[in-house]
Amino acid sequence: MTNNPEQALLFLLMFFLALAGLLVLMVHLECSLTKTAPRPRGLGGRSGRDEAAAPLTVRAGGRVNPGCWVARRPVGYSGHLIPIWEPNMSTDAIVLLKQDHKEILSTFKKFEKAGDNAHKAKADLVNKMIKLLTVHTYIENEVMYTRVRDLLPEVEDDVLESYEEHHAADVLVMELVGMKPTDERFTAKTTVLIENVTHHIEEEQEWFPKVREGLGRSVLQEIGAEMVEAKKNAPRSPAQPSALKKTVDAVIK
Ligand SMILES: [Fe+2]
Ligand SMILES: [Fe+2]
Repeated sequence: MTNNPEQALLFLLMFFLALAGLLVLMVHLECSLTKTAPRPRGLGGRSGRDEAAAPLTVRAGGRVNPGCWVARRPVGYSGHLIPIWEPNMSTDAIVLLKQDHKEILSTFKKFEKAGDNAHKAKADLVNKMIKLLTVHTYIENEVMYTRVRDLLPEVEDDVLESYEEHHAADVLVMELVGMKPTDERFTAKTTVLIENVTHHIEEEQEWFPKVREGLGRSVLQEIGAEMVEAKKNAPRSPAQPSALKKTVDAVIK
């Protein structure tokens, strides 16, 4: 060190500038490489096993660590044309699920309007339904329902009934995977799937407001961010192992 006060001051100034630069670099790296937000209080799993799971991670535009709001590129659509999330979209869990519902119901309407002999169009629409429903029921079972059940015991019955309705839809979806549009029961089975899922969506619309009131905006945003992440790797077909696991979990949990 030096005995010159001016040199000592300069040294200290340079030291603090270097420290500030290092901090800025660390924050930048954290925001650009991986965005990890702490799991909100009370968002652990029922048995406590989820507390040990990976922390809530949001990439590509999610609201993450303080100061890490990034909108680098739209997540847009996955390779299977399943809408994921876009930077200007909310991560509110209920808003996200309602957007899914809208797309599912729109696909149902198109199927109902297709003519009896529109085999190709009907096959394509059923394939789309299978993907949309497989992804949607996966993120609800694995994220939304699990979290809501933990945090809001008063909607336990609604959640349990929803698991059963998903299970009934899963069975129809699995059977439809192996069918051709010219099969005798193809349209009948699809119609029953449409009726069941439409009824289920109507019921969700009835109990979701209780969830909004009970959990509030910030917790719903945290759950939504977790759903966005889960959606990226969600199964697209009921034959995928993660889809089968979801189906089994819904029965035995
Ligand atoms: Fe559902
Ligand atoms: Fe739903």
